[in-house]
Amino acid sequence: MYDQQQHDVLIIGSGAAGLSLALKLADEADVAVLSKEALIEGATLYAQGGVSAVLDKHDSIASHIEDTLSAGAGLCDPEIVRFVVEQAHKSIDWLIGLGVDFTRASKQAGTHAPFHLHKEGGHSHRRIIHAADATGKAIQTTLEACVRQHPNICLYEHHIAVDLITTEKFSISGNRCLGAYVIDIEKNNVSVFSAKTVVLASGGAGKTYLYTSNPDSCTGDGIAMAWRAGCRIANMEFIQFHPTCLYHPMAKSFLVSEALRGEGAKLILKDGARFMSRYDKREELAPRDIVARAIDSEMKCLGHDCVYLDISHKSQAFIEAHFPTINRRCLDLGIDMSRTPIPVVPAAHYTCGGVMIDKEGQTDIAGLYAIGEVSCSGLHGANRMASNSLLECVVFAHTAANAIHQSLAATKMPGPLPEWDESRVTDSDEEVVVSHNWDEIRRFMWDYVGIVRTTKRLQRAQRRISLLQSEITNYYGHFKISKDLIELRNLAVVAELIINSALQRKESRGLHYSTDYSVANIDSQTQDTILSRNP
Ligand code: FAD
Ligand code: SIN
Repeated sequence: MYDQQQHDVLIIGSGAAGLSLALKLADEADVAVLSKEALIEGATLYAQGGVSAVLDKHDSIASHIEDTLSAGAGLCDPEIVRFVVEQAHKSIDWLIGLGVDFTRASKQAGTHAPFHLHKEGGHSHRRIIHAADATGKAIQTTLEACVRQHPNICLYEHHIAVDLITTEKFSISGNRCLGAYVIDIEKNNVSVFSAKTVVLASGGAGKTYLYTSNPDSCTGDGIAMAWRAGCRIANMEFIQFHPTCLYHPMAKSFLVSEALRGEGAKLILKDGARFMSRYDKREELAPRDIVARAIDSEMKCLGHDCVYLDISHKSQAFIEAHFPTINRRCLDLGIDMSRTPIPVVPAAHYTCGGVMIDKEGQTDIAGLYAIGEVSCSGLHGANRMASNSLLECVVFAHTAANAIHQSLAATKMPGPLPEWDESRVTDSDEEVVVSHNWDEIRRFMWDYVGIVRTTKRLQRAQRRISLLQSEITNYYGHFKISKDLIELRNLAVVAELIINSALQRKESRGLHYSTDYSVANIDSQTQDTILSRNP
Protein backbone atom coordinates (compact mmCIF):
# COMPACT_ATOMS: atom_id res chain seq x y z
CA MET A 1 0.00 0.00 0.00
CA TYR A 2 1.41 3.42 -0.91
CA ASP A 3 1.42 6.58 1.19
CA GLN A 4 -1.87 8.51 0.86
CA GLN A 5 -2.79 11.53 3.06
CA GLN A 6 -6.34 12.83 3.35
CA HIS A 7 -7.40 16.28 4.57
CA ASP A 8 -10.43 18.50 4.10
CA VAL A 9 -8.26 21.27 2.67
CA LEU A 10 -4.77 21.06 1.20
CA ILE A 11 -2.97 24.44 1.10
CA ILE A 12 0.14 24.52 -1.08
CA GLY A 13 2.30 27.29 0.39
CA SER A 14 3.03 28.75 3.82
CA GLY A 15 3.46 32.49 3.21
CA ALA A 16 1.08 35.27 4.26
CA ALA A 17 -1.63 33.90 1.97
CA GLY A 18 -1.41 30.21 2.92
CA LEU A 19 -1.01 30.65 6.68
CA SER A 20 -3.76 33.30 6.91
CA LEU A 21 -6.12 30.93 5.12
CA ALA A 22 -5.12 27.97 7.32
CA LEU A 23 -5.92 29.97 10.47
CA LYS A 24 -9.25 31.13 9.06
CA LEU A 25 -10.31 27.57 8.22
CA ALA A 26 -8.87 25.46 10.98
CA ASP A 27 -11.55 25.84 13.65
CA GLU A 28 -13.96 23.99 11.40
CA ALA A 29 -11.82 21.91 9.04
CA ASP A 30 -8.86 19.59 8.97
CA VAL A 31 -6.18 21.55 7.11
CA ALA A 32 -2.81 20.51 5.66
CA VAL A 33 -0.18 23.12 4.75
CA LEU A 34 2.73 22.23 2.46
CA SER A 35 5.92 24.21 2.38
CA LYS A 36 8.72 23.31 0.05
CA GLU A 37 11.34 24.61 2.47
CA ALA A 38 11.07 25.44 6.18
CA LEU A 39 7.64 26.86 6.99
CA ILE A 40 8.98 30.37 7.52
CA GLU A 41 10.64 30.67 4.07
CA GLY A 42 9.04 32.49 1.12
CA ALA A 43 8.71 36.05 -0.15
CA THR A 44 6.61 37.09 2.86
CA LEU A 45 9.56 36.70 5.24
CA TYR A 46 11.58 39.28 3.27
CA ALA A 47 8.89 41.95 2.80
CA GLN A 48 10.20 45.27 4.04
CA GLY A 49 8.02 48.33 3.36
CA GLY A 50 4.70 47.17 4.82
CA VAL A 51 0.99 46.82 4.17
CA SER A 52 -1.10 49.56 2.58
CA ALA A 53 -4.33 50.60 4.28
CA VAL A 54 -6.26 53.80 4.87
CA LEU A 55 -5.50 54.45 8.54
CA ASP A 56 -4.98 58.19 8.68
CA LYS A 57 -7.92 60.61 8.87
CA HIS A 58 -6.44 62.78 6.12
CA ASP A 59 -6.39 59.79 3.77
CA SER A 60 -9.44 58.24 2.09
CA ILE A 61 -10.63 54.99 0.51
CA ALA A 62 -11.23 56.96 -2.71
CA SER A 63 -7.60 58.08 -2.79
CA HIS A 64 -6.22 54.55 -2.20
CA ILE A 65 -8.49 53.27 -4.99
CA GLU A 66 -7.45 56.05 -7.36
CA ASP A 67 -3.72 55.50 -6.74
CA THR A 68 -4.07 51.72 -7.26
CA LEU A 69 -6.01 52.21 -10.52
CA SER A 70 -3.51 54.77 -11.75
CA ALA A 71 -0.47 52.54 -11.03
CA GLY A 72 -2.32 49.62 -12.69
CA ALA A 73 -2.36 51.63 -15.97
CA GLY A 74 -5.95 50.91 -17.01
CA LEU A 75 -5.94 47.16 -16.40
CA CYS A 76 -7.14 46.79 -12.80
CA ASP A 77 -10.62 45.43 -12.11
CA PRO A 78 -12.22 48.45 -10.37
CA GLU A 79 -14.66 46.29 -8.42
CA ILE A 80 -11.83 44.16 -6.98
CA VAL A 81 -9.75 47.25 -6.21
CA ARG A 82 -12.62 48.80 -4.25
CA PHE A 83 -13.31 45.54 -2.43
CA VAL A 84 -9.67 45.00 -1.36
CA VAL A 85 -9.12 48.61 -0.33
CA GLU A 86 -12.33 48.56 1.73
CA GLN A 87 -11.22 45.36 3.51
CA ALA A 88 -7.78 46.74 4.39
CA HIS A 89 -8.57 48.20 7.82
CA LYS A 90 -10.27 44.96 8.92
CA SER A 91 -7.30 42.92 7.66
CA ILE A 92 -4.83 45.06 9.62
CA ASP A 93 -6.98 44.69 12.75
CA TRP A 94 -6.93 40.91 12.25
CA LEU A 95 -3.12 40.88 12.01
CA ILE A 96 -2.82 43.11 15.10
CA GLY A 97 -5.23 40.78 16.92
CA LEU A 98 -2.93 37.84 16.16
CA GLY A 99 -0.03 39.78 17.66
CA VAL A 100 1.79 41.51 14.77
CA ASP A 101 3.76 44.31 16.38
CA PHE A 102 3.54 47.22 13.94
CA THR A 103 5.69 50.30 14.58
CA ARG A 104 3.93 52.97 16.66
CA ALA A 105 3.70 56.62 15.63
CA SER A 106 4.76 58.14 18.91
CA LYS A 107 7.40 60.40 17.43
CA GLN A 108 5.78 61.17 14.08
CA ALA A 109 4.53 64.68 13.51
CA GLY A 110 1.60 65.47 11.24
CA THR A 111 -0.31 62.19 11.46
CA HIS A 112 -3.16 61.29 13.76
CA ALA A 113 -2.89 57.53 13.44
CA PRO A 114 -1.56 55.48 16.35
CA PHE A 115 0.80 53.68 13.98
CA HIS A 116 3.70 55.12 12.04
CA LEU A 117 2.86 55.16 8.33
CA HIS A 118 5.34 55.06 5.45
CA LYS A 119 4.88 56.54 2.00
CA GLU A 120 5.92 54.65 -1.13
CA GLY A 121 5.83 55.13 -4.90
CA GLY A 122 2.42 55.80 -6.44
CA HIS A 123 0.76 56.51 -3.06
CA SER A 124 -0.49 60.05 -2.64
CA HIS A 125 -0.66 59.68 1.18
CA ARG A 126 1.29 58.03 3.95
CA ARG A 127 -0.62 54.75 4.27
CA ILE A 128 1.92 51.92 4.70
CA ILE A 129 1.71 50.35 8.16
CA HIS A 130 4.96 48.53 8.93
CA ALA A 131 7.18 46.86 11.50
CA ALA A 132 10.33 48.98 11.01
CA ASP A 133 11.82 47.64 7.73
CA ALA A 134 11.06 43.97 8.43
CA THR A 135 7.27 43.89 8.13
CA GLY A 136 7.20 40.51 6.40
CA LYS A 137 9.21 38.92 9.19
CA ALA A 138 6.83 40.31 11.83
CA ILE A 139 3.81 38.96 9.94
CA GLN A 140 5.33 35.60 9.02
CA THR A 141 6.67 34.79 12.49
CA THR A 142 3.34 35.72 14.08
CA LEU A 143 1.36 33.57 11.64
CA GLU A 144 3.83 30.72 12.08
CA ALA A 145 3.49 30.79 15.87
CA CYS A 146 -0.32 30.65 15.54
CA VAL A 147 -0.46 27.77 13.04
CA ARG A 148 2.07 25.72 15.02
CA GLN A 149 -0.28 25.84 18.03
CA HIS A 150 -3.46 24.86 16.18
CA PRO A 151 -4.48 21.22 16.62
CA ASN A 152 -6.35 21.06 13.28
CA ILE A 153 -3.43 22.20 11.12
CA CYS A 154 -0.95 19.57 9.88
CA LEU A 155 2.29 21.11 8.68
CA TYR A 156 4.35 19.37 6.01
CA GLU A 157 7.67 21.21 5.70
CA HIS A 158 10.16 20.32 2.96
CA HIS A 159 7.34 18.81 0.90
CA ILE A 160 6.98 19.94 -2.73
CA ALA A 161 3.76 19.64 -4.68
CA VAL A 162 4.71 18.24 -8.07
CA ASP A 163 1.37 18.26 -9.90
CA LEU A 164 -2.33 18.62 -9.20
CA ILE A 165 -4.54 15.55 -9.53
CA THR A 166 -7.74 16.33 -11.42
CA THR A 167 -10.64 14.28 -12.72
CA GLU A 168 -9.59 15.24 -16.29
CA LYS A 169 -6.51 13.02 -15.88
CA PHE A 170 -8.84 10.02 -15.45
CA SER A 171 -11.08 11.07 -18.36
CA ILE A 172 -13.98 11.79 -16.00
CA SER A 173 -16.16 14.57 -17.39
CA GLY A 174 -16.07 18.01 -15.72
CA ASN A 175 -12.70 19.07 -14.34
CA ARG A 176 -12.42 18.88 -10.53
CA CYS A 177 -9.28 18.99 -8.40
CA LEU A 178 -8.88 15.97 -6.12
CA GLY A 179 -5.45 16.51 -4.61
CA ALA A 180 -1.77 16.60 -5.52
CA TYR A 181 1.31 14.46 -5.91
CA VAL A 182 3.82 15.60 -3.30
CA ILE A 183 7.48 14.73 -2.84
CA ASP A 184 8.92 14.54 0.67
CA ILE A 185 12.39 15.98 0.08
CA GLU A 186 13.98 14.39 3.14
CA LYS A 187 12.66 10.86 2.44
CA ASN A 188 12.76 11.34 -1.32
CA ASN A 189 9.43 9.63 -1.95
CA VAL A 190 6.29 10.81 -3.70
CA SER A 191 2.94 10.46 -1.95
CA VAL A 192 -0.64 11.28 -2.82
CA PHE A 193 -2.48 14.00 -0.92
CA SER A 194 -6.23 13.95 -1.48
CA ALA A 195 -8.54 16.74 -0.32
CA LYS A 196 -12.03 18.12 -0.80
CA THR A 197 -10.45 21.48 -1.67
CA VAL A 198 -6.95 22.38 -2.83
CA VAL A 199 -5.56 25.91 -2.57
CA LEU A 200 -2.53 27.24 -4.41
CA ALA A 201 -0.75 29.79 -2.16
CA SER A 202 2.66 29.12 -3.63
CA GLY A 203 3.84 32.67 -4.39
CA GLY A 204 5.44 34.27 -7.42
CA ALA A 205 8.10 33.54 -10.00
CA GLY A 206 10.95 36.05 -9.62
CA LYS A 207 13.52 33.27 -10.01
CA THR A 208 12.69 33.17 -13.72
CA TYR A 209 15.14 36.10 -13.94
CA LEU A 210 18.87 36.19 -13.31
CA TYR A 211 18.63 39.16 -10.95
CA THR A 212 15.76 39.16 -8.48
CA SER A 213 14.76 40.36 -5.03
CA ASN A 214 12.94 37.05 -4.50
CA PRO A 215 14.11 34.15 -2.36
CA ASP A 216 14.90 30.78 -3.97
CA SER A 217 11.39 29.40 -3.40
CA CYS A 218 9.82 31.75 -5.98
CA THR A 219 9.92 29.46 -9.02
CA GLY A 220 6.29 29.83 -10.11
CA ASP A 221 5.36 26.24 -9.21
CA GLY A 222 1.68 27.02 -8.62
CA ILE A 223 1.29 28.89 -11.90
CA ALA A 224 2.89 26.00 -13.81
CA MET A 225 0.81 23.35 -12.01
CA ALA A 226 -2.41 25.28 -12.64
CA TRP A 227 -1.47 25.70 -16.32
CA ARG A 228 -0.83 21.98 -16.73
CA ALA A 229 -4.15 21.24 -15.00
CA GLY A 230 -6.05 23.48 -17.46
CA CYS A 231 -6.52 26.83 -15.66
CA ARG A 232 -6.37 30.11 -17.55
CA ILE A 233 -3.31 32.22 -16.76
CA ALA A 234 -3.50 36.00 -17.21
CA ASN A 235 -1.21 39.03 -17.58
CA MET A 236 2.12 37.24 -17.27
CA GLU A 237 3.91 39.94 -19.28
CA PHE A 238 3.61 42.25 -16.26
CA ILE A 239 6.70 41.32 -14.27
CA GLN A 240 7.52 44.07 -11.81
CA PHE A 241 11.15 45.12 -11.46
CA HIS A 242 11.91 46.77 -8.12
CA PRO A 243 14.06 49.85 -8.80
CA THR A 244 16.43 49.47 -5.85
CA CYS A 245 18.12 46.18 -4.99
CA LEU A 246 21.51 46.38 -3.33
CA TYR A 247 24.34 46.16 -5.88
CA HIS A 248 27.22 44.33 -4.25
CA PRO A 249 28.94 41.02 -5.08
CA MET A 250 28.10 39.65 -1.61
CA ALA A 251 24.46 40.83 -1.55
CA LYS A 252 22.27 38.12 -3.03
CA SER A 253 18.70 39.35 -3.61
CA PHE A 254 18.74 42.10 -1.00
CA LEU A 255 16.10 44.80 -1.33
CA VAL A 256 16.51 48.46 -0.36
CA SER A 257 12.94 49.45 0.48
CA GLU A 258 11.01 52.06 -1.43
CA ALA A 259 10.20 53.49 2.01
CA LEU A 260 13.65 55.15 1.91
CA ARG A 261 12.48 57.21 -1.04
CA GLY A 262 9.31 57.93 0.98
CA GLU A 263 11.61 59.48 3.59
CA GLY A 264 13.30 61.66 0.97
CA ALA A 265 16.14 59.46 -0.36
CA LYS A 266 17.30 60.61 -3.81
CA LEU A 267 18.50 58.59 -6.77
CA ILE A 268 21.81 59.86 -8.10
CA LEU A 269 24.50 58.95 -10.60
CA LYS A 270 28.18 58.32 -9.88
CA ASP A 271 28.89 62.07 -10.13
CA GLY A 272 26.10 62.93 -7.68
CA ALA A 273 23.66 64.25 -10.34
CA ARG A 274 19.94 63.56 -9.85
CA PHE A 275 18.00 62.34 -12.88
CA MET A 276 14.40 61.38 -11.98
CA SER A 277 12.94 64.81 -12.83
CA ARG A 278 13.80 64.09 -16.48
CA TYR A 279 11.43 61.10 -16.39
CA ASP A 280 8.44 62.01 -14.18
CA LYS A 281 7.24 64.98 -12.19
CA ARG A 282 6.76 62.73 -9.13
CA GLU A 283 10.52 62.08 -9.36
CA GLU A 284 11.70 59.34 -6.91
CA LEU A 285 8.10 58.62 -5.86
CA ALA A 286 6.75 57.84 -9.33
CA PRO A 287 5.31 54.30 -9.70
CA ARG A 288 7.88 51.52 -9.91
CA ASP A 289 7.70 50.84 -13.64
CA ILE A 290 8.73 54.43 -14.35
CA VAL A 291 11.54 54.54 -11.79
CA ALA A 292 12.95 51.14 -12.83
CA ARG A 293 12.94 52.14 -16.53
CA ALA A 294 14.61 55.46 -15.73
CA ILE A 295 17.42 53.71 -13.85
CA ASP A 296 17.78 51.12 -16.63
CA SER A 297 17.99 53.88 -19.22
CA GLU A 298 20.64 55.86 -17.26
CA MET A 299 22.74 52.73 -16.70
CA LYS A 300 22.56 51.74 -20.38
CA CYS A 301 23.24 55.25 -21.76
CA LEU A 302 26.21 55.84 -19.46
CA GLY A 303 27.49 52.25 -19.35
CA HIS A 304 27.30 52.27 -15.54
CA ASP A 305 26.83 49.10 -13.47
CA CYS A 306 24.51 50.75 -10.93
CA VAL A 307 23.06 54.04 -9.68
CA TYR A 308 23.01 55.25 -6.06
CA LEU A 309 20.34 55.91 -3.45
CA ASP A 310 21.27 58.73 -1.10
CA ILE A 311 19.60 59.06 2.29
CA SER A 312 22.55 60.80 3.96
CA HIS A 313 20.34 63.81 4.81
CA LYS A 314 18.89 61.65 7.64
CA SER A 315 20.72 61.11 10.91
CA GLN A 316 22.26 57.81 11.95
CA ALA A 317 19.66 57.66 14.76
CA PHE A 318 16.74 58.08 12.32
CA ILE A 319 18.16 55.43 10.01
CA GLU A 320 18.76 53.00 12.84
CA ALA A 321 15.20 53.51 14.12
CA HIS A 322 13.43 53.26 10.76
CA PHE A 323 15.63 50.98 8.67
CA PRO A 324 17.56 48.75 11.07
CA THR A 325 17.68 45.69 8.76
CA ILE A 326 18.88 47.61 5.71
CA ASN A 327 21.35 49.60 7.81
CA ARG A 328 22.81 46.41 9.33
CA ARG A 329 23.15 44.71 5.94
CA CYS A 330 24.83 47.78 4.43
CA LEU A 331 27.21 48.13 7.39
CA ASP A 332 28.13 44.42 7.05
CA LEU A 333 29.20 45.25 3.49
CA GLY A 334 31.11 48.38 4.51
CA ILE A 335 28.44 50.89 3.44
CA ASP A 336 27.42 53.49 6.04
CA MET A 337 24.16 54.75 4.56
CA SER A 338 24.05 57.78 6.87
CA ARG A 339 27.15 59.06 5.02
CA THR A 340 27.49 57.16 1.75
CA PRO A 341 25.00 56.64 -1.10
CA ILE A 342 23.91 52.99 -1.48
CA PRO A 343 24.72 51.30 -4.85
CA VAL A 344 21.45 49.95 -6.31
CA VAL A 345 20.10 48.24 -9.46
CA PRO A 346 16.61 47.12 -10.54
CA ALA A 347 15.75 43.42 -10.21
CA ALA A 348 12.72 41.20 -10.88
CA HIS A 349 10.45 41.55 -7.87
CA TYR A 350 6.78 40.71 -8.32
CA THR A 351 4.60 38.59 -10.65
CA CYS A 352 1.50 40.69 -11.36
CA GLY A 353 -0.12 38.02 -13.51
CA GLY A 354 -0.97 34.47 -12.51
CA VAL A 355 -3.79 31.98 -12.11
CA MET A 356 -7.11 33.66 -12.92
CA ILE A 357 -9.47 33.77 -9.96
CA ASP A 358 -12.79 35.29 -9.03
CA LYS A 359 -13.53 37.42 -5.96
CA GLU A 360 -13.49 34.31 -3.76
CA GLY A 361 -10.21 32.94 -5.08
CA GLN A 362 -11.93 30.20 -7.14
CA THR A 363 -10.02 29.16 -10.28
CA ASP A 364 -11.42 27.62 -13.47
CA ILE A 365 -11.24 24.14 -11.91
CA ALA A 366 -13.85 23.12 -9.32
CA GLY A 367 -12.30 22.54 -5.90
CA LEU A 368 -9.15 24.51 -6.78
CA TYR A 369 -8.51 27.98 -5.35
CA ALA A 370 -5.52 30.30 -5.73
CA ILE A 371 -4.63 33.22 -3.44
CA GLY A 372 -1.69 35.60 -2.99
CA GLU A 373 1.06 36.23 -5.52
CA VAL A 374 0.33 33.04 -7.50
CA SER A 375 -3.03 34.48 -8.52
CA CYS A 376 -4.28 37.17 -10.87
CA SER A 377 -7.20 38.72 -9.01
CA GLY A 378 -7.58 41.98 -10.96
CA LEU A 379 -6.10 44.10 -8.13
CA HIS A 380 -2.76 44.94 -9.74
CA GLY A 381 -3.55 45.38 -13.43
CA ALA A 382 -0.45 46.26 -15.45
CA ASN A 383 1.60 47.34 -12.42
CA ARG A 384 1.15 46.56 -8.73
CA MET A 385 1.29 49.53 -6.42
CA ALA A 386 3.79 49.14 -3.58
CA SER A 387 2.58 47.33 -0.46
CA ASN A 388 -0.72 46.21 -2.00
CA SER A 389 0.36 42.57 -2.17
CA LEU A 390 0.54 41.58 1.50
CA LEU A 391 -2.87 43.22 1.76
CA GLU A 392 -4.14 41.09 -1.14
CA CYS A 393 -2.82 37.92 0.56
CA VAL A 394 -4.81 38.57 3.74
CA VAL A 395 -7.99 39.83 2.06
CA PHE A 396 -8.23 36.88 -0.35
CA ALA A 397 -7.39 34.40 2.43
CA HIS A 398 -10.49 35.67 4.21
CA THR A 399 -12.83 35.59 1.21
CA ALA A 400 -11.58 32.17 0.09
CA ALA A 401 -12.04 30.83 3.64
CA ASN A 402 -15.69 31.90 3.62
CA ALA A 403 -16.30 30.27 0.23
CA ILE A 404 -14.49 27.06 1.22
CA HIS A 405 -16.39 26.83 4.52
CA GLN A 406 -19.67 26.98 2.66
CA SER A 407 -18.70 24.25 0.20
CA LEU A 408 -17.00 21.72 2.49
CA ALA A 409 -20.11 20.09 3.98
CA ALA A 410 -21.54 19.34 0.53
CA THR A 411 -18.25 18.01 -0.92
CA LYS A 412 -17.32 14.32 -0.73
CA MET A 413 -13.75 13.27 0.04
CA PRO A 414 -12.24 11.72 -3.12
CA GLY A 415 -11.73 7.95 -3.02
CA PRO A 416 -8.23 6.45 -3.27
CA LEU A 417 -6.24 8.11 -6.07
CA PRO A 418 -3.72 6.39 -8.37
CA GLU A 419 -0.19 6.27 -7.06
CA TRP A 420 2.76 8.06 -8.63
CA ASP A 421 4.21 5.91 -11.40
CA GLU A 422 8.03 5.67 -11.36
CA SER A 423 8.20 2.41 -13.30
CA ARG A 424 9.68 3.98 -16.44
CA VAL A 425 12.29 6.33 -14.95
CA THR A 426 15.85 5.80 -13.68
CA ASP A 427 18.33 7.81 -11.61
CA SER A 428 19.80 10.67 -13.62
CA ASP A 429 23.40 10.44 -14.78
CA GLU A 430 23.30 13.96 -16.26
CA GLU A 431 22.39 16.41 -13.48
CA VAL A 432 24.45 19.03 -15.32
CA VAL A 433 21.60 19.37 -17.84
CA VAL A 434 19.34 20.61 -15.05
CA SER A 435 21.76 23.20 -13.67
CA HIS A 436 22.76 24.37 -17.15
CA ASN A 437 19.14 24.85 -18.24
CA TRP A 438 18.29 26.71 -15.02
CA ASP A 439 21.07 29.22 -15.71
CA GLU A 440 20.25 29.53 -19.38
CA ILE A 441 16.58 30.35 -18.82
CA ARG A 442 17.29 32.94 -16.14
CA ARG A 443 19.97 34.64 -18.24
CA PHE A 444 18.02 34.94 -21.50
CA MET A 445 14.90 36.05 -19.62
CA TRP A 446 16.98 38.86 -18.12
CA ASP A 447 18.60 39.79 -21.45
CA TYR A 448 15.61 39.41 -23.80
CA VAL A 449 12.44 39.71 -21.66
CA GLY A 450 13.55 42.34 -19.12
CA ILE A 451 12.62 45.92 -18.27
CA VAL A 452 12.77 47.16 -21.88
CA ARG A 453 11.69 44.71 -24.59
CA THR A 454 11.63 44.47 -28.38
CA THR A 455 9.64 42.08 -30.55
CA LYS A 456 12.85 40.71 -32.05
CA ARG A 457 14.30 39.88 -28.63
CA LEU A 458 11.02 38.32 -27.49
CA GLN A 459 10.97 36.12 -30.60
CA ARG A 460 14.56 35.10 -29.92
CA ALA A 461 13.54 34.14 -26.36
CA GLN A 462 10.55 32.22 -27.73
CA ARG A 463 12.79 30.09 -29.94
CA ARG A 464 15.14 29.37 -27.02
CA ILE A 465 12.37 28.40 -24.61
CA SER A 466 10.67 26.08 -27.05
CA LEU A 467 13.95 24.16 -27.55
CA LEU A 468 14.54 24.00 -23.81
CA GLN A 469 10.96 22.91 -23.16
CA SER A 470 11.33 19.85 -25.37
CA GLU A 471 14.67 18.97 -23.76
CA ILE A 472 13.25 19.34 -20.24
CA THR A 473 10.09 17.33 -21.05
CA ASN A 474 12.25 14.57 -22.44
CA TYR A 475 14.51 14.59 -19.37
CA TYR A 476 11.47 14.61 -17.03
CA GLY A 477 10.07 11.55 -18.81
CA HIS A 478 13.25 9.51 -18.31
CA PHE A 479 14.70 10.40 -14.91
CA LYS A 480 13.55 10.37 -11.29
CA ILE A 481 12.36 13.75 -10.06
CA SER A 482 14.37 15.98 -7.74
CA LYS A 483 13.67 19.46 -6.30
CA ASP A 484 15.85 21.11 -8.94
CA LEU A 485 14.17 19.23 -11.78
CA ILE A 486 10.64 20.03 -10.54
CA GLU A 487 11.54 23.72 -10.27
CA LEU A 488 13.28 23.80 -13.64
CA ARG A 489 10.22 22.27 -15.32
CA ASN A 490 8.03 24.92 -13.68
CA LEU A 491 10.41 27.81 -14.46
CA ALA A 492 10.37 26.81 -18.12
CA VAL A 493 6.56 26.84 -18.22
CA VAL A 494 6.44 30.25 -16.53
CA ALA A 495 9.12 31.69 -18.83
CA GLU A 496 7.14 30.52 -21.86
CA LEU A 497 3.93 32.07 -20.46
CA ILE A 498 5.72 35.40 -19.87
CA ILE A 499 7.21 35.43 -23.39
CA ASN A 500 3.96 34.44 -25.11
CA SER A 501 1.96 37.01 -23.15
CA ALA A 502 4.52 39.73 -23.94
CA LEU A 503 4.34 38.89 -27.65
CA GLN A 504 0.54 39.10 -27.57
CA ARG A 505 0.47 42.62 -26.15
CA LYS A 506 0.81 45.05 -29.06
CA GLU A 507 1.34 48.18 -26.96
CA SER A 508 3.55 49.43 -24.14
CA ARG A 509 1.54 49.56 -20.94
CA GLY A 510 2.49 49.52 -17.27
CA LEU A 511 5.31 47.07 -16.71
CA HIS A 512 5.34 45.80 -20.29
CA TYR A 513 7.49 48.26 -22.24
CA SER A 514 8.50 47.54 -25.82
CA THR A 515 10.47 49.98 -27.98
CA ASP A 516 8.34 48.73 -30.92
CA TYR A 517 5.13 50.16 -29.43
CA SER A 518 4.30 53.55 -28.01
CA VAL A 519 3.03 53.91 -24.46
CA ALA A 520 -0.74 53.43 -24.42
CA ASN A 521 -3.01 56.06 -22.98
CA ILE A 522 -4.18 54.42 -19.77
CA ASP A 523 -7.74 55.46 -20.53
CA SER A 524 -7.63 53.60 -23.86
CA GLN A 525 -9.47 50.29 -24.28
CA THR A 526 -7.43 47.24 -23.41
CA GLN A 527 -7.86 43.67 -22.25
CA ASP A 528 -6.12 41.18 -20.01
CA THR A 529 -3.74 38.83 -21.83
CA ILE A 530 -5.33 35.45 -21.18
CA LEU A 531 -3.56 32.21 -22.10
CA SER A 532 -5.37 28.91 -22.06
CA ARG A 533 -4.39 25.32 -22.85
CA ASN A 534 -8.03 24.66 -23.76
CA PRO A 535 -9.00 27.57 -26.04
P1 FAD B 1 5.14 33.47 -0.40
O1 FAD B 1 5.28 34.26 0.84
O2 FAD B 1 6.23 33.55 -1.41
O3 FAD B 1 4.96 31.96 0.05
C1 FAD B 1 4.93 30.93 -0.91
C2 FAD B 1 4.95 29.61 -0.20
O4 FAD B 1 4.71 28.57 -1.15
C3 FAD B 1 6.28 29.26 0.46
O5 FAD B 1 5.96 28.66 1.70
C4 FAD B 1 6.88 28.19 -0.46
O6 FAD B 1 7.70 27.27 0.23
C5 FAD B 1 5.61 27.51 -0.93
N1 FAD B 1 5.72 26.77 -2.19
C6 FAD B 1 6.02 27.24 -3.42
N2 FAD B 1 5.98 26.25 -4.32
C7 FAD B 1 5.64 25.13 -3.64
C8 FAD B 1 5.46 23.78 -4.02
N3 FAD B 1 5.60 23.36 -5.29
N4 FAD B 1 5.13 22.88 -3.06
C9 FAD B 1 4.99 23.26 -1.76
N5 FAD B 1 5.15 24.54 -1.35
C10 FAD B 1 5.47 25.45 -2.29
N6 FAD B 1 4.66 43.22 -0.61
C11 FAD B 1 4.04 44.14 0.16
O7 FAD B 1 2.81 44.25 0.12
N7 FAD B 1 4.77 44.95 0.97
C12 FAD B 1 6.13 44.87 1.06
O8 FAD B 1 6.73 45.60 1.83
C13 FAD B 1 6.80 43.93 0.26
N8 FAD B 1 8.14 43.82 0.28
C14 FAD B 1 8.75 42.83 -0.42
C15 FAD B 1 10.12 42.65 -0.31
C16 FAD B 1 10.75 41.59 -0.95
C17 FAD B 1 12.23 41.40 -0.82
C18 FAD B 1 9.98 40.69 -1.73
C19 FAD B 1 10.62 39.53 -2.41
C20 FAD B 1 8.62 40.88 -1.88
C21 FAD B 1 7.99 41.94 -1.22
N9 FAD B 1 6.61 42.13 -1.32
C22 FAD B 1 6.01 43.09 -0.56
C23 FAD B 1 5.79 41.18 -2.05
C24 FAD B 1 5.16 40.20 -1.04
O9 FAD B 1 6.13 39.89 -0.05
C25 FAD B 1 4.70 38.93 -1.69
O10 FAD B 1 3.90 39.21 -2.79
C26 FAD B 1 3.89 38.09 -0.69
O11 FAD B 1 4.64 37.88 0.48
C27 FAD B 1 3.52 36.77 -1.32
O12 FAD B 1 2.94 35.97 -0.33
P2 FAD B 1 2.44 34.53 -0.73
O13 FAD B 1 1.88 33.94 0.51
O14 FAD B 1 1.58 34.61 -1.93
O15 FAD B 1 3.79 33.76 -1.18
C1 SIN C 1 9.60 47.81 -0.59
O1 SIN C 1 9.70 47.84 0.64
O2 SIN C 1 10.14 48.61 -1.36
C2 SIN C 1 8.80 46.70 -1.19
C3 SIN C 1 7.37 47.04 -1.12
C4 SIN C 1 6.57 46.16 -2.05
O3 SIN C 1 7.13 45.44 -2.88
O4 SIN C 1 5.35 46.24 -1.98
